[in-house]
Order: sequence, then structure tokens, then C-alpha cells
Amino acid sequence: MKEYNEYLQIVTDAISNLRLPGHPSGLYDPIRYTLNCGGKRLRPVLALAACEAFGKEAMTAIHQAIAIEMFHNFTLLHDDVMDKAEVRRGRPTVHVKWNEETAILSGDAMLTTANMLLAVKCGERLPQALELFNGTAMNIYEGQQYDMDFESRTDVTVEEYMEMIRLKTSVLLGCACGMGALMADAPFETQVRFFDFGVNLGLAFQLQDDYLDTYGDPETFGKSIGGDILNDKKTWLLIMAMNEDKSGRIKSMLGTTDDPESKIKAVRSIYDELDLPQRIHELISAYIDTAIKCLDHLELAPEARSFFMDLALKSATRNK
Ligand code: IPE
Ligand code: IPE
Ligand code: MG
Ligand code: MG
Ligand code: MG
Repeated sequence: MKEYNEYLQIVTDAISNLRLPGHPSGLYDPIRYTLNCGGKRLRPVLALAACEAFGKEAMTAIHQAIAIEMFHNFTLLHDDVMDKAEVRRGRPTVHVKWNEETAILSGDAMLTTANMLLAVKCGERLPQALELFNGTAMNIYEGQQYDMDFESRTDVTVEEYMEMIRLKTSVLLGCACGMGALMADAPFETQVRFFDFGVNLGLAFQLQDDYLDTYGDPETFGKSIGGDILNDKKTWLLIMAMNEDKSGRIKSMLGTTDDPESKIKAVRSIYDELDLPQRIHELISAYIDTAIKCLDHLELAPEARSFFMDLALKSATRNK
């Protein structure tokens, strides 16, 4: 096994070797801009590391790893339109730097590019890879729809929230893990078990994303703080506050848009009163523990096991 940064370097090199057409620049420049802004590239690293952990060279899965990262970046272009988000990875989002039409169409081109990359050197695994990849994509769209539906609802339960984040976020981490195992020709049961590791990691990952959206440092996090509060996103934090705040303050703030800064401050102070930052981290730790338990059912070399365990533990306390 390699270090995280070595896999990251492989991903970075592969992305910079992608030869996207020059014209029309209105279509391709935003794609280059998005990919060159970096990001953590967690999903392709998971795919490469999984491939190596199950016995093949990491490079065997490189095209599929980049396909997943391309797909992830496509979802971000559209997500930022849907969430009215102006900053990502410390830079203006595509719909702000260009316009919404551009974010839609460049996103579409990224989705198709991802599908083309998935097929490269996939061999006989292609039908299974397509099933995993496209099944995951449909789940993500379903999750994104629930995420939007929940904005205007006031009765969303924690169970509904967990299912929504499983769909919109977790399955893609699961897909990256499963894809790496598939490219290594690991048995199907192994692919499924490793997919489950990714899903549990993904639940913790999205809970931490929701925490950082309210409590992160905008410089480090690279996104504006408080967007979830302003959009009335039914995060675990907001659902718990709606359940437990008996003063009626939380409910009275939903739907208000007149004073964004005060709304963020007021909602955050209720979260603080209810000790939600501490409590969300207990929940995150529980999902990380479940993810680590998934590793126990796999025949991983000690080196591989500690790679994925470290990665999971670090995700729970990430600040970007
Ligand atoms: C952002 O994903 C979207 C979520 C699922 C929370 P990342 O936090 O992996 O974003 P980048 O790719 O590192 O910027
Ligand atoms: C991300 O959820 C899910 C997808 C992009 C599919 P968020 O809306 O919380 O992601 P960020 O915070 O904008 O990165
Ligand atoms: Mg968003
Ligand atoms: Mg969103
Ligand atoms: Mg978020």
C-alpha cells in the first residue's frame, strides 16, 4: 500500500493528462477550472487504494477512479446551482463565474465524460461497472431530490435525513470502494462488503460536512458558512434543534430571508445551547466505528486495513 498522498499524486497526474478539447471554450473552460481547483479527491484515492488492497496495481483502476471524480465534480456544478452556493474550494462557483446555463451544460459534459472514462480498459468487467456506476448515479439524484423536498418540510425525521444522505453522498464513496475491488477482480461478496465500508464512511463524511457548513472556518473549508441554515436544509443539526427547542425560536426562523447573518447566528446559538456540536461528533464516531467494523469481515493485509482505518478516523475530524 502507498500513502494517501501518493495515491493523490497519481490522481493529480491522471487529471492533468486528460486531454479535453479546446473548443468551444465556453463548454470546456469551466470543466478545466473545476478540476484544477482540486478538492480532496477522496473518492478516486479510495478506488485506487481498494484496487491495490485487493491485489492488483493501483493503476488498473485509474480510469474508473477518474470517472468517479469527474462524476463527483459534475454533481457539484449542479448542486451549487440548486443550493445557490457562491464559493467552492475557495473560488467562485461555476454558475457565479460564468452563469447557470454554463453550470448545467458543462456539468452534462462531465457526466458523459465520466461514462466514457469508466469504459476505458475496463474489459469484461464493464457490465458490472456500469451497473454499479449508473445505479449509484440514480441514487444520488434521488438523494438530491429529497434534499430539496426537505427544505420546505418541517416534519423531516432523523431516519429520513439519514436515508437522504445515504443516497446523495454515501453511495458514491461506496461506489469508489466497490469499483476498486471490482477492478481488482475481488469476489462479488468482497465488493459488496467494501461498498458498505464506503457507505458508512460516507454517512460520517456528510454529517461532518453539515457540521462544517455551520461551524467550519470558511478559509479552510473553502465554502461559505451558513448556507444550509439559510436554505432551511434539514440537516441532523436542524432536525434535532426542531425536535428539542421548546421555545419556538427555531421554527419561527424557518423561511426567513431578510437578515441572513442574524439568522445564522441565532440558529447556531440554539445548536450550541443544545450541545449539538458535541452530539453530532458522537454520531460521526459511531458511523466511523461501523465503517471500521466492515473492514473486519474482509481479508485485508494489516497494512491495507490500517490505511482504510486511518483514512476513516481522519475523515471524522476533517476541517476541509
Ligand atoms: C463535497 O464533497 C460534497 C459532499 C458530498 C459533502 P467533498 O467534500 O469531497 O468535496 P471536494 O471534492 O473535496 O471539494
Ligand atoms: C452534497 O451535499 C451532495 C452532492 C453534491 C451530490 P451538499 O450540498 O451538502 O454538498 P456541499 O456542501 O455543497 O459540498
Ligand atoms: Mg451544496
Ligand atoms: Mg446540496
Ligand atoms: Mg454541505
